[in-house]
Amino acid sequence: MNRTFFIVAIVLLVGAGCERPHSDMGDQDKYNTYQASDFFVDGASARPLVAGVVVREPSIPTTLPVTAETVAHGQQEFDIYCSVCHGRLGNGEGMIVQRGLTRPPSFHVDRLINAPDSHLYDVITNGYGQMFSYSERVPPQQRWEIISYIRALQTAGQHASPQVRAALIAQGDRKTPTAGGGG
Ligand code: HEC
Repeated sequence: MNRTFFIVAIVLLVGAGCERPHSDMGDQDKYNTYQASDFFVDGASARPLVAGVVVREPSIPTTLPVTAETVAHGQQEFDIYCSVCHGRLGNGEGMIVQRGLTRPPSFHVDRLINAPDSHLYDVITNGYGQMFSYSERVPPQQRWEIISYIRALQTAGQHASPQVRAALIAQGDRKTPTAGGGG
Protein backbone atom coordinates (compact mmCIF):
# COMPACT_ATOMS: atom_id res chain seq x y z
CA MET A 1 0.00 0.00 0.00
CA ASN A 2 1.22 3.42 -0.98
CA ARG A 3 2.30 5.37 2.09
CA THR A 4 0.44 8.57 1.12
CA PHE A 5 -2.75 6.61 0.50
CA PHE A 6 -2.40 5.00 3.95
CA ILE A 7 -2.14 8.38 5.71
CA VAL A 8 -5.12 9.79 3.78
CA ALA A 9 -7.15 6.72 4.71
CA ILE A 10 -6.33 7.19 8.43
CA VAL A 11 -7.29 10.87 8.30
CA LEU A 12 -10.61 10.02 6.64
CA LEU A 13 -11.36 7.33 9.19
CA VAL A 14 -10.61 9.54 12.18
CA GLY A 15 -12.58 12.40 10.62
CA ALA A 16 -15.53 10.10 10.03
CA GLY A 17 -15.46 9.22 13.74
CA CYS A 18 -16.33 12.82 14.54
CA GLU A 19 -19.48 12.58 12.41
CA ARG A 20 -20.96 9.72 14.43
CA PRO A 21 -24.55 10.34 15.48
CA HIS A 22 -24.34 11.86 18.97
CA SER A 23 -26.78 13.42 21.42
CA ASP A 24 -25.52 16.88 22.27
CA MET A 25 -28.27 19.06 23.77
CA GLY A 26 -27.72 21.53 20.93
CA ASP A 27 -29.03 18.92 18.49
CA GLN A 28 -32.51 18.57 19.92
CA ASP A 29 -35.66 20.10 18.43
CA LYS A 30 -35.92 23.66 19.67
CA TYR A 31 -36.94 27.17 18.71
CA ASN A 32 -34.22 29.71 18.12
CA THR A 33 -34.75 33.24 19.47
CA TYR A 34 -37.88 34.83 17.95
CA GLN A 35 -38.33 31.93 15.52
CA ALA A 36 -41.87 31.59 14.16
CA SER A 37 -44.04 28.79 15.54
CA ASP A 38 -47.07 27.05 14.12
CA PHE A 39 -47.89 25.57 17.52
CA PHE A 40 -49.10 28.77 19.23
CA VAL A 41 -52.07 30.63 17.72
CA ASP A 42 -50.20 33.95 17.59
CA GLY A 43 -47.44 32.26 15.58
CA ALA A 44 -44.67 33.36 17.98
CA SER A 45 -42.40 30.94 19.81
CA ALA A 46 -41.42 33.64 22.35
CA ARG A 47 -44.16 33.54 24.97
CA PRO A 48 -45.33 36.53 27.03
CA LEU A 49 -45.11 36.37 30.85
CA VAL A 50 -48.18 34.96 32.55
CA ALA A 51 -50.51 37.77 33.72
CA GLY A 52 -49.77 38.89 37.28
CA VAL A 53 -46.11 37.86 37.38
CA VAL A 54 -44.29 39.83 40.06
CA VAL A 55 -40.63 40.61 39.48
CA ARG A 56 -38.70 39.75 42.62
CA GLU A 57 -35.36 41.24 43.58
CA PRO A 58 -34.43 42.82 40.22
CA SER A 59 -30.88 43.69 41.20
CA ILE A 60 -30.21 43.79 44.89
CA PRO A 61 -27.85 46.55 45.90
CA THR A 62 -25.68 45.01 48.59
CA THR A 63 -24.40 48.28 49.94
CA LEU A 64 -25.60 51.86 49.77
CA PRO A 65 -23.39 54.85 50.47
CA VAL A 66 -25.09 56.63 53.36
CA THR A 67 -25.70 60.33 52.73
CA ALA A 68 -28.01 62.88 54.33
CA GLU A 69 -30.37 62.21 51.41
CA THR A 70 -30.37 58.43 52.06
CA VAL A 71 -31.30 58.99 55.68
CA ALA A 72 -34.00 61.55 54.75
CA HIS A 73 -35.56 59.08 52.29
CA GLY A 74 -35.28 56.37 54.90
CA GLN A 75 -37.12 58.54 57.41
CA GLN A 76 -40.03 59.07 55.00
CA GLU A 77 -40.26 55.36 54.22
CA PHE A 78 -39.88 54.36 57.87
CA ASP A 79 -42.66 56.74 58.88
CA ILE A 80 -44.91 55.32 56.14
CA TYR A 81 -44.22 51.59 56.45
CA CYS A 82 -42.80 50.90 59.89
CA SER A 83 -43.80 53.57 62.40
CA VAL A 84 -47.40 52.37 62.74
CA CYS A 85 -46.03 49.46 64.76
CA HIS A 86 -42.47 50.45 65.69
CA GLY A 87 -43.32 54.05 66.62
CA ARG A 88 -41.65 57.08 65.04
CA LEU A 89 -38.88 56.84 67.66
CA GLY A 90 -38.38 53.12 67.00
CA ASN A 91 -39.31 52.32 70.58
CA GLY A 92 -41.99 49.77 69.64
CA GLU A 93 -44.85 51.99 70.74
CA GLY A 94 -46.62 52.48 67.39
CA MET A 95 -50.32 53.26 67.18
CA ILE A 96 -51.31 49.72 66.19
CA VAL A 97 -49.41 48.36 69.19
CA GLN A 98 -51.25 50.76 71.44
CA ARG A 99 -54.44 49.22 70.07
CA GLY A 100 -53.36 45.71 70.97
CA LEU A 101 -50.93 44.28 68.36
CA THR A 102 -47.90 42.35 69.66
CA ARG A 103 -45.27 44.86 70.77
CA PRO A 104 -42.07 44.70 68.70
CA PRO A 105 -38.80 45.08 70.58
CA SER A 106 -37.41 48.62 70.76
CA PHE A 107 -34.69 49.30 68.16
CA HIS A 108 -32.71 50.88 71.04
CA VAL A 109 -31.96 47.60 72.86
CA ASP A 110 -28.31 46.50 72.72
CA ARG A 111 -29.11 43.38 70.70
CA LEU A 112 -30.57 45.37 67.80
CA ILE A 113 -27.94 48.13 68.04
CA ASN A 114 -25.33 45.38 67.60
CA ALA A 115 -27.28 43.39 65.00
CA PRO A 116 -25.65 43.51 61.54
CA ASP A 117 -27.41 45.42 58.74
CA SER A 118 -28.02 42.04 57.11
CA HIS A 119 -30.34 41.06 59.99
CA LEU A 120 -32.46 44.19 59.54
CA TYR A 121 -32.49 43.63 55.77
CA ASP A 122 -33.56 40.04 56.33
CA VAL A 123 -36.39 41.05 58.67
CA ILE A 124 -37.79 43.58 56.15
CA THR A 125 -37.43 41.08 53.28
CA ASN A 126 -38.70 37.89 54.90
CA GLY A 127 -40.63 39.03 57.95
CA TYR A 128 -39.87 37.95 61.51
CA GLY A 129 -42.13 36.09 63.92
CA GLN A 130 -45.41 38.02 63.87
CA MET A 131 -44.13 40.68 61.48
CA PHE A 132 -44.88 39.90 57.86
CA SER A 133 -42.58 40.49 54.88
CA TYR A 134 -42.34 43.94 53.33
CA SER A 135 -40.54 42.68 50.21
CA GLU A 136 -43.42 43.51 47.90
CA ARG A 137 -43.98 47.02 49.24
CA VAL A 138 -40.41 48.11 49.94
CA PRO A 139 -37.89 47.51 47.12
CA PRO A 140 -34.24 46.73 47.95
CA GLN A 141 -32.86 50.26 47.72
CA GLN A 142 -35.56 51.57 50.06
CA ARG A 143 -34.78 48.78 52.52
CA TRP A 144 -31.22 50.06 52.78
CA GLU A 145 -32.49 53.63 53.16
CA ILE A 146 -34.77 52.54 56.00
CA ILE A 147 -31.87 50.72 57.65
CA SER A 148 -29.73 53.87 57.45
CA TYR A 149 -32.52 55.76 59.22
CA ILE A 150 -32.90 53.06 61.91
CA ARG A 151 -29.13 53.42 62.51
CA ALA A 152 -29.58 57.20 62.82
CA LEU A 153 -32.39 56.66 65.35
CA GLN A 154 -30.22 54.25 67.33
CA THR A 155 -27.27 56.65 67.36
CA ALA A 156 -29.52 59.48 68.54
CA GLY A 157 -30.81 57.18 71.29
CA GLN A 158 -27.30 56.34 72.43
CA HIS A 159 -26.51 60.03 72.80
CA ALA A 160 -29.77 60.89 74.55
CA SER A 161 -29.97 61.68 78.25
CA PRO A 162 -30.18 58.65 80.58
CA GLN A 163 -33.86 59.35 81.24
CA VAL A 164 -34.75 59.47 77.53
CA ARG A 165 -32.65 56.39 76.84
CA ALA A 166 -34.38 54.50 79.65
CA ALA A 167 -37.75 55.50 78.20
CA LEU A 168 -36.75 54.28 74.73
CA ILE A 169 -35.98 50.78 76.02
CA ALA A 170 -38.57 50.69 78.79
CA GLN A 171 -40.28 47.59 77.36
CA GLY A 172 -37.12 45.49 77.35
CA ASP A 173 -36.12 43.01 74.67
CA ARG A 174 -37.50 39.75 73.38
CA LYS A 175 -34.77 37.34 72.31
CA THR A 176 -36.73 35.06 70.02
CA PRO A 177 -39.53 35.81 67.59
CA THR A 178 -43.07 35.16 68.74
CA ALA A 179 -44.85 32.30 67.01
CA GLY A 180 -47.06 32.73 63.98
CA GLY A 181 -47.26 35.33 61.24
CA GLY A 182 -44.01 36.09 59.46
CA GLY A 183 -43.38 34.78 56.03
C1 HEC B 1 -47.90 45.63 61.45
C2 HEC B 1 -46.86 45.93 62.44
C3 HEC B 1 -45.41 46.05 61.95
C4 HEC B 1 -44.93 46.80 60.91
C5 HEC B 1 -45.72 47.73 60.00
C6 HEC B 1 -43.50 46.59 60.90
N1 HEC B 1 -43.13 45.73 61.88
FE1 HEC B 1 -41.23 45.18 62.35
N2 HEC B 1 -41.95 44.02 63.86
C7 HEC B 1 -43.28 43.89 64.21
C8 HEC B 1 -43.43 42.94 65.27
C9 HEC B 1 -44.74 42.53 65.95
C10 HEC B 1 -42.12 42.49 65.58
C11 HEC B 1 -41.75 41.44 66.60
C12 HEC B 1 -41.96 40.10 65.93
C13 HEC B 1 -41.76 38.94 66.86
O1 HEC B 1 -40.88 39.00 67.72
O2 HEC B 1 -42.49 37.97 66.64
C14 HEC B 1 -41.22 43.20 64.67
C15 HEC B 1 -39.85 43.08 64.69
C16 HEC B 1 -38.97 43.84 63.93
C17 HEC B 1 -37.55 43.86 64.09
C18 HEC B 1 -36.75 43.13 65.17
C19 HEC B 1 -36.34 41.73 64.80
C20 HEC B 1 -35.59 41.11 65.97
O3 HEC B 1 -34.47 40.61 65.74
O4 HEC B 1 -36.11 41.11 67.09
C21 HEC B 1 -37.06 44.73 63.16
C22 HEC B 1 -35.61 45.09 62.92
C23 HEC B 1 -38.19 45.24 62.42
N3 HEC B 1 -39.34 44.68 62.91
C24 HEC B 1 -38.11 46.16 61.39
C25 HEC B 1 -39.21 46.68 60.71
C26 HEC B 1 -39.10 47.60 59.61
C27 HEC B 1 -37.80 48.16 59.08
C28 HEC B 1 -40.37 47.87 59.21
C29 HEC B 1 -40.82 48.74 58.06
C30 HEC B 1 -40.34 48.35 56.73
C31 HEC B 1 -41.27 47.12 60.06
N4 HEC B 1 -40.53 46.40 60.93
C32 HEC B 1 -42.65 47.16 59.95
C33 HEC B 1 -44.35 44.56 63.65
C34 HEC B 1 -44.28 45.38 62.54
